[in-house]
Order: sequence, then C-alpha cells, then structure tokens
Amino acid sequence: DSPTLTIRPSETKDALDQASHYLNETTQPVAFPTETVYGLGADARKTESVRSIYAAKKRPADNPLIVHIGSLTQLRHLLRTSPTQNDKDLIPAIYHPLINKFWPGALTIVLPLPKPSPISTLVTAGQSTFAVRLPSHPLALALLLHSDCPLAAPSANASTRPSPTLASHVHTDLGSRIPFILDGGASNVGVESTVVNGLVSPPVVLRPGGVSVEEIKTVGGVWGDVVVHRPGRKDLEGVPQAPGMKYRHYSPSARVVLFENVPVTDIVRILDTPAKENVKNKKVGVMRTRTWSAPGAETALRELGASEVLDRSLGTDGEDISRGLFAVLRELDGEGCDMIFVEGVGEEDEGLAIMNRLRKAASETVVQA
Ligand code: TXA
Ligand code: MG
Repeated sequence: DSPTLTIRPSETKDALDQASHYLNETTQPVAFPTETVYGLGADARKTESVRSIYAAKKRPADNPLIVHIGSLTQLRHLLRTSPTQNDKDLIPAIYHPLINKFWPGALTIVLPLPKPSPISTLVTAGQSTFAVRLPSHPLALALLLHSDCPLAAPSANASTRPSPTLASHVHTDLGSRIPFILDGGASNVGVESTVVNGLVSPPVVLRPGGVSVEEIKTVGGVWGDVVVHRPGRKDLEGVPQAPGMKYRHYSPSARVVLFENVPVTDIVRILDTPAKENVKNKKVGVMRTRTWSAPGAETALRELGASEVLDRSLGTDGEDISRGLFAVLRELDGEGCDMIFVEGVGEEDEGLAIMNRLRKAASETVVQA
C-alpha cells in the first residue's frame, strides 16, 4: 500500500538537471525526498557546500551528517584510495549481510574513513568514521546518480523541528533559505534511518529507525547479538556514539505530553494539580495510537477544561504510526495547539523508533506501570 509515485519523464529530467546544477556549480544545498524523511543535501566532498547545510538548518557543526550514495559502485569509488584495492575488500565484511538484506533502504552504516579521505571533515565532525546510506526512493537514487555526487544530508527540517515527510514541510522550515526542493510526495517510512556501528563488538544500534532491531537480528551471526545504545550505559563507555543524540529534537512549539501505559480514561485521575491547571482553556491536540478512543480522549480533556480538542488517530499498526508521526505533530502545531497529548506504544518492532522520537519531542512524560 505504498503511495504511487508518478514520475513524468520530461519534468523529472528538468528537475534533476536543476538540482544537479545547484549541487555541482554552486555551494547551495538542495532538498530531496527519501523513503525515510526529506534530506537537505550537498556534495559531501566540498566543505563550503556542507557548511551551507549547517547554516540553512541552523544546526551545530559538531553533529556529523549521513553520506548518501546512489549505488555500491558510487560507494566503492568513494572508498578506493589505490587502484590495486579489490572491490570486495573496500566495504568491511561484517556489513555485507546487512547490505544484501536492507539496501537500498532505511539503514545507515558506520564505516572507517579512507585515508586520505575524500569526504569533508565538516561531514564527519572530525571523527575517524563516516555514516553512509543507500536510500530506496527513486528520486533520491536518480538525483545521486544524475548529479554524480555523494550527498551529505541531514533531515531537511530547521534544527529542533520535527523531520519533514512532505516537500511542504521543508518549504515551511527552509523555503526562504534554500534554492530548490525536489518534490517526491510523502515519505513512506516516516522516521529516519537506523544507524548501526558494526566496527565494534558487539555491534551497536546508535539510533533506532526505519529498520527494526528485530529485523537486524534475523540476519544472524554477530548481528544476532546487536545491542541498542542507550545514553549513559556503562557497558558502552568508550564506544563511539551517535553524537546527534544529545540534541533536543522533533519539538513543535506546542507542549508535548507523552503518556506511557496510561489508558485515556485515567488521564484525569493521574495528572497532578498543576498539570490539570495547564489544560484549562487550552487548545489541545490528541495523537492516538493503539488503545485510546476518540470519545474517551475528548471527554477526559473537556473534563480538565480544555477549550478545544483536535483528535487525530495515527492508526494502530507500527508502520502507519511511523509514517504519520512527524506530519501529525506538525499539523497540530500548525493548528495552534497549546498542548499535544500523545499515546505511547510498546517498544517492540517499529515501537522502539517511535518511542525514541516521541520521548525527544515530549516536554514531559506521564508513566503508569
Ligand atoms: O533517514 C535518515 O537517516 C535521514 C535521511 C535524510 O537520510 N537523515 C538523517 O540525518 O536523519 P541526520 O543528520 O539528521 O542524522 C544523522 C545521524 C545522527 O544521529 C548522527 O549522530 C549519526 O547519524 N552519525 C553520523 N555520522 C556518524 C558517525 N561517524 N558515527 C556515529 N554516528 C554518526
Ligand atoms: Mg535530523
């Protein structure tokens, strides 16, 4: 049930020519669709171009970027430092089964930087590794191959805002600061890629995302033992972590309250007095997932004195919830909600990435055992 992407060959060729022009002849970044979220791309080999990404997003430059490639040939080309190197030795063997199974797709792997490195140090924020992904979106692949650029690209939102899953989201955040947005419709996955580091033992999921940990484990071998990085874990001290994890993310202007294991009918009972006061006369958005009912949410919030309730269901299936998450956060924020109440999900399968994003978006969390 993936959305159909209609590509008119003549228009697409024009758009790809224009985007490639910006990438190859200027230092300005270009927004493009991927199946996870929209990216803001620039040639990963050109420092001035990469700098323009950070500037457009207002993102701190110590947070490294993912390099996108359009084919394994393009990746090998980037990794090759001498003509005598064998193709099969260029990508560490540990990643071969993951690449076979998940590329093109929502998985990012951490590789050692070749020496000398063709990649700008601004992409890697000075680390000795770089993160790379082969996306599956046809327009992303077309752009990567047509421009012949490896594209450093973070999500195409203004820093701290929810990631964009539509071209219009990019336009809202960055429209006045970038020259070009390639519109490929709605991103089908809806959360960012999973970042894994297989250069350490056991391998580590640095950021949960579009490929679940359960799926990675099915690959077997050392991947059966993959661990999930959680900030502050003693057993992972000294393991290079995803530096982006320390920044506040995905925050709409509205105050997001995440409810874990709280039936909607219990909201009134469970909130303390100051929290109840906060809801009075407020416009409140509700994002339901698995168990809250629409009338139950509305009744509970009216009882607390909410002036208006905007009810949205993300669906009950993990894929649907992922796909709609950022778009609905943005929509409710755009409607001027003062608060957004979100129903959390279990952390199995897609749930791990969903809860990771929701916890970062939330200014407070209400938990019931
Ligand atoms: O789905 C995605 O991954 C999207 C689309 C556009 O591809 N991109 C994206 O990029 O989310 P960004 O820059 O927002 O997130 C990059 C993540 C951060 O968590 C960052 O810390 C991590 O990748 N990362 C980048 N380089 C790394 C490295 N050398 N070692 C460890 N983590 C790295
Ligand atoms: Mg991002």
